[in-house]
Amino acid sequence: MFKIRFASGSAGKTRKLGEALGAELRKGFPKSRRGIIIRLKGNLGSGKTTFIQGIARGLGLRHRIVSPTFLLMRVYPFTKQGRSKKLLHIDAYRIATKKDAAILENKKFFENPLHIIVVEWPERIPALVRGPAIQINFLHGARENERSIIIQTKP
Ligand SMILES: Nc1ncnc2c1ncn2[C@@H]1O[C@H](COP(=O)(O)OP(=O)(O)OP(=O)(O)O)[C@@H](O)[C@H]1O
Ligand SMILES: [Mg+2]
Repeated sequence: MFKIRFASGSAGKTRKLGEALGAELRKGFPKSRRGIIIRLKGNLGSGKTTFIQGIARGLGLRHRIVSPTFLLMRVYPFTKQGRSKKLLHIDAYRIATKKDAAILENKKFFENPLHIIVVEWPERIPALVRGPAIQINFLHGARENERSIIIQTKP
């Protein structure tokens, strides 16, 4: 298990941190026969989507990542050494019932090793609450632009 805490003083710094993770993931780490799941937990406005913008940049995506306001999931395809991969951005904030959550509990999403799945509000999807993942917690600091970002691996 691995756990590290960062202090961020701006959205730009949070994006840079995400970019560093995206660049690592682009190298193919960690090796997995399933998709790589990244859980992003934290209050509204704590920086989850901002961090994902960085991940996308680090992966080499050109797309501008936005909050999937009325969508539960957006899919961003990219290629790595000629292989097509996909970044799946799930925002479960609007999920209210287990029935809603079931829509996203599709094994096709999670068991594909070519998928990198980033999930905001994973607490709302029972299948994603636990299990092997990179988990990132975002906390507001005392000042307006301060955030604590805790990155850990979960078995
Ligand atoms: N250090 C920081 N890191 C990240 N964002 C910051 C920071 N300081 C200020 N901000 C601002 O906080 C907001 C974070 O918004 P963002 O959409 O990333 O949050 P979120 O966690 O995805 O929220 P939601 O749960 O509503 O999706 C942005 O407006 C951003 O500019
Ligand atoms: Mg968001």
